[in-house]
Amino acid sequence: VWTEVDAYTVSHLHPSTKPNSAALINALRYSNEQGLPDIASYPVIAKFYALQCRALRVKHALELGTLGGYTSIFLASENPDLRVTTIEVDPHHRDVAQRNLEQAGVADRVTIRLGAGLNVLPQVGKDIASGKLPRLGFVYIDADKQNNWNYLDQVIDMCESGAVIFVDNIVRGGRLVDPSHRKSPGVIGARRVVENVGRDVRVDGMVLQTVGEKGYDGVLMVVVK
Ligand code: DHB
Ligand code: MG
Repeated sequence: VWTEVDAYTVSHLHPSTKPNSAALINALRYSNEQGLPDIASYPVIAKFYALQCRALRVKHALELGTLGGYTSIFLASENPDLRVTTIEVDPHHRDVAQRNLEQAGVADRVTIRLGAGLNVLPQVGKDIASGKLPRLGFVYIDADKQNNWNYLDQVIDMCESGAVIFVDNIVRGGRLVDPSHRKSPGVIGARRVVENVGRDVRVDGMVLQTVGEKGYDGVLMVVVK
């Protein structure tokens, strides 16, 4: 039923006649052909992020974990004034994403930086501090889960006041609170970021549980004070 509800609402709110729909479908097809895992965000959630960028009139968005570029294409194609910086550690994923961005016609506004997040983030921070890039208004953290908090901690100081940050895969079917998963690196990474956000005076946050075509999960939403 979750999937059916998403299909119904998307068919009206993000119909296949939207200019970017074909580009998004083609990007997923090419990613699949190239052997990328099927863990991209999905239409309802990507649309939610695109609307956040629109509502906040975001000029510069950052993503950790480009994969095939699906979310970046969504954000950029729905927000013509938005520039996206996206970080990817895997060169093959980067190549696939670059082609997908070009095919979607957003490669001029989306820049992929290749490397591990913790190495690349300081370079992005330098470009923001020097004024080469605007401060961040939107951040999507969807990379290696053990580093969730390390990424968030670093990006807070690159954000403008009022920026929103989302961290993916926090709930994972309820494993977040399942004692038998307490030693899983993903759960440790999810719990650490939730608990540290709760203690951090720079930010405020909540976890939004989600159901849909990718099952039961949830995102941590953080707002920079
Ligand atoms: C999975 C899903 C994700 O969204 C992700 O970022 C990593 C892994 C998964 O379902 O395995
Ligand atoms: Mg994810």
